[in-house]
Amino acid sequence: MPTLKFAVLAGDGIGPEVMTEALRVLAHVARQENLRLEPTAAEVGGIAIDRHGRALPDSTLRTCEAADAILFGSVGGPKWEKLPPKEQPERAALLPLRQHFTLFANLRPGLLYRELADASPLKSERIPDGIDVLCIRELTGGIYFGRPKETTTLADGDLQAVDTMVYRRSEIERITGIAITAARSRRRKLCSVDKANVLETSVLWRKTVTAYVAQHAPDLELSHLYVDNAAMQLVRNPNQFDVLFTENMFGDILSDEMACVCGSLGMLASASLGAGKNSLGLPFGLYEPAGGTAPDIAGRGVANPCAQILSAALMLRYSFGLEKPAARIEAAVKQAVTGGARTADIAFGQKAVGTAAMADAVIAHLSAD
Ligand code: IPM
Ligand code: MG
Repeated sequence: MPTLKFAVLAGDGIGPEVMTEALRVLAHVARQENLRLEPTAAEVGGIAIDRHGRALPDSTLRTCEAADAILFGSVGGPKWEKLPPKEQPERAALLPLRQHFTLFANLRPGLLYRELADASPLKSERIPDGIDVLCIRELTGGIYFGRPKETTTLADGDLQAVDTMVYRRSEIERITGIAITAARSRRRKLCSVDKANVLETSVLWRKTVTAYVAQHAPDLELSHLYVDNAAMQLVRNPNQFDVLFTENMFGDILSDEMACVCGSLGMLASASLGAGKNSLGLPFGLYEPAGGTAPDIAGRGVANPCAQILSAALMLRYSFGLEKPAARIEAAVKQAVTGGARTADIAFGQKAVGTAAMADAVIAHLSAD
């Protein structure tokens, strides 16, 4: 029986409650598919600051190292907002995790079911079939991690801060490789986003992407957009894109825009894939919902667990190579939602169900198929 060893980092806010439901769905699938789950819980984020003095304690890192994947909830909240930025949960937990495991490929599927078109701020007639775009963001390079990164006092007493945007060709090639693989299982269209009219890193980005796709994937359609234009096109007509891929900071911004265009953050999952392989020879990865801790609704049992459940499905697919159970979970979420089970964020006047009832509906559809 295949064993799925994964670290469970539920974190803060709604993290623990949606994580409970994702684990319940996973347990159900595991029984049906004859898989053995071996989750190990560890603390991360604000709760880890409170209990261990650090957002990412060594013990948590060790738990992650011993696992084949990380199922992540969310970190942060008002309680820790007064800490210096470098110590805040988001920055002090997520960025070191990404760096430690070289989680260079961040996949954010922007998916909006046709039946939920009302959730999008776009007019429904612009998205008659819903939305289906995959945003791929380079996650361990660029201005987030480049050195120098510092604030200094100049001779005249003025203050100056500097961040450094840096990319190597090899970093651009490996993220392009991920985008190619993804496009081959979708509509075979790649759009690379940069700012090659201004930035040196973007000139290298565009040149490298063009050469790499010509050599490894001449069968795919490749286009390039400047990031300002891409931001505009995403709201004008999101479905002109199939796979959109870009560097770290542009991806941070565009993926939030895409999440907004897709309506509820409560439905969006993500996968951050590592350069290293896990004990199964598959990519080590961190899987997390896009929505964050939602402190305003935390602890009330009303949060939408779908993004966390769908993140668990991505974990099955990428880090455990279990396509069938992953696709079954995705289908069950879709059936549950389109069949009328809706948490408050996607209810639009219909009767809203709570977190556990939403997961129950997913489980019911898993049992029925
Ligand atoms: C994200 C977040 C993080 C980022 C923050 C919390 C550091 O915005 O995952 O998109 O900027 O990468
Ligand atoms: Mg972001």
